[in-house]
Amino acid sequence: MALATPTLRTARLELRPFTDADTGPLFALQSNADVLRYWDAPPWTDLSRAERFLAACRQMADDGTGIRLAVDRDGTFVGWCALTRWSPDHRSASLTYCLEQSAWGHGFATEAVSALLSWAFGTLDLNRVQAETDTRNLASVRVLEKLGFLREGTLREDCIVNGEVSDSFVFGLLRRDWAFPPRNR
Ligand SMILES: CC(C)(COP(=O)(O)OP(=O)(O)OC[C@H]1O[C@@H](n2cnc3c(N)ncnc32)[C@H](O)[C@@H]1OP(=O)(O)O)[C@@H](O)C(=O)NCCC(=O)NCCS
Repeated sequence: MALATPTLRTARLELRPFTDADTGPLFALQSNADVLRYWDAPPWTDLSRAERFLAACRQMADDGTGIRLAVDRDGTFVGWCALTRWSPDHRSASLTYCLEQSAWGHGFATEAVSALLSWAFGTLDLNRVQAETDTRNLASVRVLEKLGFLREGTLREDCIVNGEVSDSFVFGLLRRDWAFPPRNR
C-alpha cells in the first residue's frame, strides 16, 4: 500500500518530499567526506547516485515501506531524515538523518527528527523506532539521547568502509518513551 509523503513544519524547518531540484544539493551533501565521516558507506562520487536515491524515495513511497524527507531552512536544502523498513506487522521502522555541516550545532537534527517521529507515532501507529550509529559519532549519539532513545547494545565490527572497521550502537525508542518531550532531556 502506498504511503503519502507528508510535509511537516517546525519552528525553524520544513520537512517535505524530495524533488528533482534536490539532486545537486543532495549530491553535494552525500559526497562530502567530512559529513560522511561516520556513515556506513563511502561518499558518493557520481551524480547518478543522487538520481538513484530520489528514485528510491519515490519507490519507497509507492511500496509503502518508508519515507525520506528533505529538510529546508529558510527555503534552502540543509539535509534529510528518513524512516525506512517500516513494518506494519511489527509496528517498527528505522531512522536515518544527515545534515550539511553548516547546519550542525543549532539543534536542527533534533528538531527535524522530533517532527518526523511525532508524525510517525501518530500516523503510522509505530511502537518502535530503531537507529544505529557509529560508536564514535558523538553528535548523533547525543541527538538520539535527546530524543529519548535508549542505547540497547553494540554491534561489533558492524561496518567496513574503505577498509576501516567500526562498531555501531543500536538505539531504540518505544512509543511509551515518546510520551516525554525532547526539551525535557
Ligand atoms: C549527527 C548530526 C545529524 C547532528 O546534527 P545537529 O543538527 O548538529 O544536531 P543537534 O544540534 O540537534 O544536536 C547535536 C548534539 O550533539 C552535541 N555534540 C556535537 N558534537 C559533539 C561531540 N563531538 N561530542 C559530544 N557531543 C557533541 C551537541 O552539543 C548537541 O547536544 P546538546 O544540544 O546537548 O548541546 C550531524 O552532525 C550530521 O548530519 N552528521 C553527518 C551525518 C550523520 O552522521 N548522521 C547520523 C548517522 S546515524
